[in-house]
Amino acid sequence: MILIILGPPGAGKGTQAQRLGEGLGIQHLSSGDLLRAERASGTPLGGQAAGFMDAGELVPDEIMIEVILARVRDSADSGILLDGFPRTVAQAESLDGALEAAARRLNGVLDLAVSRASIIERITGRRICPKCNSVYHTRFRKPRQDGVCDQDGEKLLQRPDDTETVIVSRLDNYDKQTKPLTEYYSRRGLLHSVNGDGEVNQVYERLVTVTRKLSGTRELSGGE
Ligand code: AP5
Ligand code: MG
Repeated sequence: MILIILGPPGAGKGTQAQRLGEGLGIQHLSSGDLLRAERASGTPLGGQAAGFMDAGELVPDEIMIEVILARVRDSADSGILLDGFPRTVAQAESLDGALEAAARRLNGVLDLAVSRASIIERITGRRICPKCNSVYHTRFRKPRQDGVCDQDGEKLLQRPDDTETVIVSRLDNYDKQTKPLTEYYSRRGLLHSVNGDGEVNQVYERLVTVTRKLSGTRELSGGE
């Protein structure tokens, strides 16, 4: 099964995709997590991406497309839940081409719709684990111990692009470069809009309902 989770920065894509991927038994591939890991390891790719990420701009298509498509090709025997890719029409077209060449198909696109006020509130309070990518929030998703990851005890961090100024630029770029993808997938009958406002479990239940229909007989565990 191949799915995309779409939505503005801070919509909850990572939070939901991590759990949904586990529920469906498919790999969650976050382009943002991948780039942050490359940066942390000091690779050339991480170095190339850093300036764009910190400015809230998209990393150029020439760089992103090959990096992600290589992983999509590697997932041939299992399913994949793409989070953060595609983000431009050129990326979406390249994904279509790669899937067609491999005789695979995209099952659906889950588009999380969240109000702008919630986005700012969610992003400014976000904390992440640099080791396992778990996502927390200072109000809405607190770790058991303040500032420490529940999974591995790592110190939680704030992302450098989670400042109010950079968020404005990320949201503007989303509207200009990524929003057109809703039309792109809607024309192909693949777009499923999901209300992303409300509590994490409520949103998860909505995603499960849509995904169950897309996955046919596959079992998928519901919210907690
Ligand atoms: P990326 O890491 O993908 O960032 P993003 O798209 O801006 O999305 P976020 O990760 O900020 O938000 P999210 O929707 O995952 O929300 P989350 O679940 O964390 O990309 C970063 C950068 O990398 C880009 O700006 C770009 O430079 C580059 N890049 C990546 N992919 C690229 C590509 N394909 N092409 C070019 N460049 C690319 O939730 C947010 C917070 O809200 C958390 O604290 C969470 O706990 C909380 N929360 C979640 N759900 C709820 C809820 N229902 N109620 C209350 N709080 C909630
Ligand atoms: Mg994310």
